[in-house]
Amino acid sequence: MGDARITLDPRFTVGTIDRRIFGSFVEHLGRCVYDGIHEPGHPTADSEGFRADVIDLVRELGVSTIRYPGGNFVSGFRWEDSVGPVAERPRRLDLAWHSTETNEVGLHEFSSWLDKVGSELMLAVNLGTRGVLEALDLLEYTNIRSGSTLSDQRIANGRTEPFGVKMWCLGNEMDGPWQLGHRSAEDYGKIAMQTAKALKQMDESLELVVCGSSSAHMPTFGDWERTVLEATYDDVEFISCHAYYEEKKGDTASFLASAVDMDHFIESVVATADGVRAAVGSTKRIDISFDEWNVWYIDRYHADDKITDIEKWPVAPRLLEDVYSVKDAVVFGSLMISLLKHADRVKSASLAQLVNVIAPIMTEPGGDAWRQTTFFPFAVTSRLAVGDVLRLSIESETISTEVYGEVPTVDAVATFDGETGRSAVFLVNRSMTESVTVTVGLGGLDSSEILESVSLWDDDLMAANTLEDQERVGLKSNDSASVSDGTLTVTLPPVSWSAVSLG
Ligand code: AHR
Repeated sequence: MGDARITLDPRFTVGTIDRRIFGSFVEHLGRCVYDGIHEPGHPTADSEGFRADVIDLVRELGVSTIRYPGGNFVSGFRWEDSVGPVAERPRRLDLAWHSTETNEVGLHEFSSWLDKVGSELMLAVNLGTRGVLEALDLLEYTNIRSGSTLSDQRIANGRTEPFGVKMWCLGNEMDGPWQLGHRSAEDYGKIAMQTAKALKQMDESLELVVCGSSSAHMPTFGDWERTVLEATYDDVEFISCHAYYEEKKGDTASFLASAVDMDHFIESVVATADGVRAAVGSTKRIDISFDEWNVWYIDRYHADDKITDIEKWPVAPRLLEDVYSVKDAVVFGSLMISLLKHADRVKSASLAQLVNVIAPIMTEPGGDAWRQTTFFPFAVTSRLAVGDVLRLSIESETISTEVYGEVPTVDAVATFDGETGRSAVFLVNRSMTESVTVTVGLGGLDSSEILESVSLWDDDLMAANTLEDQERVGLKSNDSASVSDGTLTVTLPPVSWSAVSLG
């Protein structure tokens, strides 16, 4: 049994949590939209064809903003295809995922679904195969009240009120050679700057996200951020980060330490953005939109047979349907800890994705919807992490990893809500063999009661929830938690994620 000590003080804060950090991502990819959120023939489908069982799970997950409609998909997307009478919408080849897009669900339908789940729309524009004009047209269609051709077209299509979309992504992963319309940092910086200026000429209150790197391991990482921000600094509010983690070659220790990479990624982008701020002589601060993050077994996806016969590109094929284990969920929980630890600069984040595609929620056509292991850390963190993130001092033993060297066994983040007086601590134990007893000195926190204490762990690290066994994995009550004399004590099982809420 190991031990660790954490000290906090509610007067020392990192920053206030922006609820947009609990966002997600819905792409027209695989069965995320069709046969996922939308399945008209399903027994729970509502009058618009949306599955009520999925709506309930998304609400339970606690998702703030949802990025849409891609992802790689957006770089070949013509937004006009997705509005107007459904029967007249074109069927298009989706070059990103070798699928057929029916456009049965488009902007109006998706927005209506967002109202049902209680989330806000974050729209991505196509800067791969399209440009400034099409982005402006989309903004006119979505946000102008009336009196122009495109706003009146929206009204004619059944939506009187503007959609009022505040956050806009200027393309997707434009640094990636796989992206339709992939560009150099200089070329992308130029079109992103022109698009941003044009969009703000129509509505200066928009919040714009310029594409950062699609991973901290891209050969252009760092230079890409600097070049793109030099071109767009005055015109954007956010730069994006994307990161996916998987266990490689059976190296579990390094996989469990994936959040070290996320910490480094965030801190490097913040440093680069602040360097550009000095260089361009600005007082404005650029924040991070971590708008794709998750565990994703991308190597398995690349090893799969690809759909090649263009005459037969399917509608909503089963793609990227990773089944998440307990181990994956512990890493996932630690990634949420990393995002929260940087709450001063990470003001928006999107779990990629939401349903069926590398998702916390799975569905079977005509059948059930269920929670993957990763559902639990997200839902609990979104519900309990309220108010400010506190600055912690963490003293922990270390574990050795091949990729990251010596890494603290325990990582944690704590939050305090000044309005309710409630606080929460989120912890991960990366040791594969040892339980760790953690003592948390609560400083001036007036907390004497444990309101909730849960852990995610299992003797079988590969345990998962599947169609056949949908509730194999869930949260376990952690009864080791106690508070006395201003100290919280809790024991963390090996390879576990935990949350303790105090009042
Ligand atoms: O989320 C799956 C894909 O990952 C997205 O379409 C793309 O942006 C990223 O490479």
